[in-house]
Amino acid sequence: MTQIQGQNETVIILDFGSQYSQLIARRVREKNVYSLLARPDVTPDEVRAHNAKGIIFTGGPNSIYEDGAPRCNPELLEMGIPVLGICYGMQMSSHLLGAEIQPAEHREYGRANLTISTPGELLKGIPTDTTVWMSHGDQVQDPGGNFDILASTPTCPFAAVKHKTKPFYGVQFHPEVTHTPHGNELFDNFLYGICGCQGLWQMSSFVNAVVEQVREQVGPDDNVICGLSGGVDSSVVAAMLHKAIGDRLHCIFVDNGLLRLNEVEFVQKMFGDHFKMQLTTVPAEDLFLGKLAGVSEPQEKRKIIGHTFIDVFKEAAQKIPNAKFLAQGTLYPDVVESGHSLAGQAANIKLHHNVGGLPEQLGFDLIEPLRDLFKDEVRRVGKLLGLPEDMVWRHPFPGPGLAVRCLGDITRDKLDVLRQADHILLEEIVAENLYRKTSQTFAVLLPVQSVGVMGDGRTYENVCALRSVDTSDFMTADWSRIPYDILARISNRIINEVRGVNRVVYDISSKPPATIEWE
Ligand code: XMP
Repeated sequence: MTQIQGQNETVIILDFGSQYSQLIARRVREKNVYSLLARPDVTPDEVRAHNAKGIIFTGGPNSIYEDGAPRCNPELLEMGIPVLGICYGMQMSSHLLGAEIQPAEHREYGRANLTISTPGELLKGIPTDTTVWMSHGDQVQDPGGNFDILASTPTCPFAAVKHKTKPFYGVQFHPEVTHTPHGNELFDNFLYGICGCQGLWQMSSFVNAVVEQVREQVGPDDNVICGLSGGVDSSVVAAMLHKAIGDRLHCIFVDNGLLRLNEVEFVQKMFGDHFKMQLTTVPAEDLFLGKLAGVSEPQEKRKIIGHTFIDVFKEAAQKIPNAKFLAQGTLYPDVVESGHSLAGQAANIKLHHNVGGLPEQLGFDLIEPLRDLFKDEVRRVGKLLGLPEDMVWRHPFPGPGLAVRCLGDITRDKLDVLRQADHILLEEIVAENLYRKTSQTFAVLLPVQSVGVMGDGRTYENVCALRSVDTSDFMTADWSRIPYDILARISNRIINEVRGVNRVVYDISSKPPATIEWE
């Protein structure tokens, strides 16, 4: 297998259950150093096998004296590889190195003033008085004789420490969050200064290496199938595989009748006309809508769509000769979550509820060229491969499509109303430069009619809800503060231009307790 340049400078991140674990992994990669999340009980041999230049222990929700609180293998601290412990990671490992941990007299949540007494290698270049983000109940109470104290806050005397003889550093604060303004420099110091990384992890070399790997994996007579959805991930997978194997890639795009306005044309134009890929579009609108007729229950809708998709995809795939592989847009968070590789059960963030079972049902080998990447990295790859901005920055769209946004039973007429309303909403959001500022923006058609008045006549038509959220991980989200005058224009346009809607409402619920989709 081709060695991916930069992967010989891996930093292993032991995930002790912090909500910021994936953020730490991304921060490291932003420094062009490859990072991997690992279970707390990862072994020294596994770390060695990855040629790790550094180890980071994340924070976590536990108190170290609790039963079952996760601990690392103490040998990791003896390997001579630099270690940075953050929050719980600091408490756990400094305890293993002889420090005493206690509940803090004053728990610290939020911003705190850090005073640096001895910057050392870790804190050099950071102002002596600076702000850091804290979130802890326990802290180091007595470091014992083994540590140098680097920094403190008014209530946390040992906010940053260094072991006197081992390459171990601990910080009680969170350098990975943006609320710690000089966290960036701390990562520079740790990765480049202390671990000696050179920052060789480049997206372009990553792409080239994956392309080489795919060429090695796929035989000269083998074909690869890729299901396109119109979303970012499958588009980037297709672009990457096309670069690797050209016409041996066959894309299948199922028009299930639940897509957004002009989506079929958009996909055909981009992949068929522009990239000149082998593309089969399967017109299956009648089939899907026929099966969905009269069904209102959301889970039932999802099941029907999932099963029908597999049937349609299978039939289309069987027509492609020598198809041996199926390409999928699995991302690193999915790999971490599903417990593969080093990550085990470490992280539990769920990003996708995709229709499953496809590869097993079809008997293909899988190709997952994005399985090492986070979403923002996938976008960078997409740009590198020449995908247009409006594709690379597309908001997520659920697998079951507009079925989850057309509440109650689904008809083609209702879907048409929803498509038009959604299109107007997005047109205005794009025109106001809000598309990139919001994370997901869409319209929902409610199975509710209300009275209105248009001209001199009374109307009794549908309610359309607008939803726009700001989020970084889609697990929690806040509603976007779209200015009133823009909302007013959108509402006006929808009511005037879309027949069948006489009332528009804006959803101001956060997630939780609401979800992003209405369903
Ligand atoms: P919720 O509604 O659970 O959605 O807050 C979180 C994110 O997941 C998307 N979503 C889906 N994505 N297949 C997908 O690929 C699905 O079935 C699905 N359902 C919800 C949703 O759009 C949001 O981004």
